[in-house]
Amino acid sequence: MVALEKKGRSMEIKSVGIVGAGQMGNGIAHVMAQAGYEVRLNDISQESLDKAVATIRLNLDRQVSREKITAEERDSTLGRIRTTMDLPEIAQTDLVIEAATEREEVKDKIFAALVPELKPETILTSNTSSISITRLASRTDRPEKFMGFHFMNPVPVMKLVELIRGIATDKETYDACLKVVQSLDKTAASAEDFPAFIVNRVLIPMINEACYTLYEGVGNVQSIDMALKLGANHPMGPLELADFIGLDTCLAIMNVLHDGLADTKYRPCPLLTKYVEAGWLGRKTKRGFYDYR
Ligand code: CAA
Repeated sequence: MVALEKKGRSMEIKSVGIVGAGQMGNGIAHVMAQAGYEVRLNDISQESLDKAVATIRLNLDRQVSREKITAEERDSTLGRIRTTMDLPEIAQTDLVIEAATEREEVKDKIFAALVPELKPETILTSNTSSISITRLASRTDRPEKFMGFHFMNPVPVMKLVELIRGIATDKETYDACLKVVQSLDKTAASAEDFPAFIVNRVLIPMINEACYTLYEGVGNVQSIDMALKLGANHPMGPLELADFIGLDTCLAIMNVLHDGLADTKYRPCPLLTKYVEAGWLGRKTKRGFYDYR
């Protein structure tokens, strides 16, 4: 387990509390439990928690059937995950990762409820894809022990975790999170706290540009995706990827870039805005650039 040096004493990161059992939260619970951490997974709905455990079980079953893990490893991984609808129950863990809805007021509410219950040494992190870490941290009691811990989707497959330092994050906190990332057999990209960090600063404007390419009639959905898949070796075309990420998330990140950097090159494509207004958010609503119904 990961040791956190603290003023001459050593604290072990053994347990991880995850807030939010959606697509990201259940993926994070999966990889953390698989790496040996005791996981407490929290959500406001029992249905989401049940769905999350069912998804983790399904993904672990697939790993067993492909002989990547044994049935015993699957069972011990599942045995390390405890679910709860009671937020304070996760406060006694060594590392908390907030992976709730990507809305700042939701995250603020979670941190406000969690902070009075936390152990003094607990590291508090957010899986936010673009909200300022410095601003989130400033509303807690521990800006020096707060940072961004940003996983990529699908979490069990993607090798990268972005670690984002807020203005006050101390080295001890960063080093402890880095060791956790390494213990998951993933690689960390270290980013400073500016709008959308590294991955989404580059990726989402590319997706936005693919939307403009469609909007201006340069290509159609299929030709744009095929061009990037075969012409640039991307595993998914940009419009297919937008559907996978969620068009509302893509638009929200473009707005963070546009507002935060005040540059017209980040202007969200009107077609992207129109799809979001229509409720065509991609795979999760079964309709986006592609039709999944
Ligand atoms: N959960 C767990 N495992 C999954 C999975 C999921 N949701 N989806 C696929 N997998 C696993 C499969 O089981 C398979 O495992 P094995 O190698 O052990 O057999 C492996 O991934 C490959 O899957 P498939 O053969 O079914 O499909 P594929 O080869 O087409 O790969 C993909 C699927 C991994 C999703 C691939 O298309 C890909 O890499 N796409 C790009 C994903 C990407 O860019 N993600 C980042 C999005 S940006 C982000 O997350 C940041 C943000 O803040 C918005």
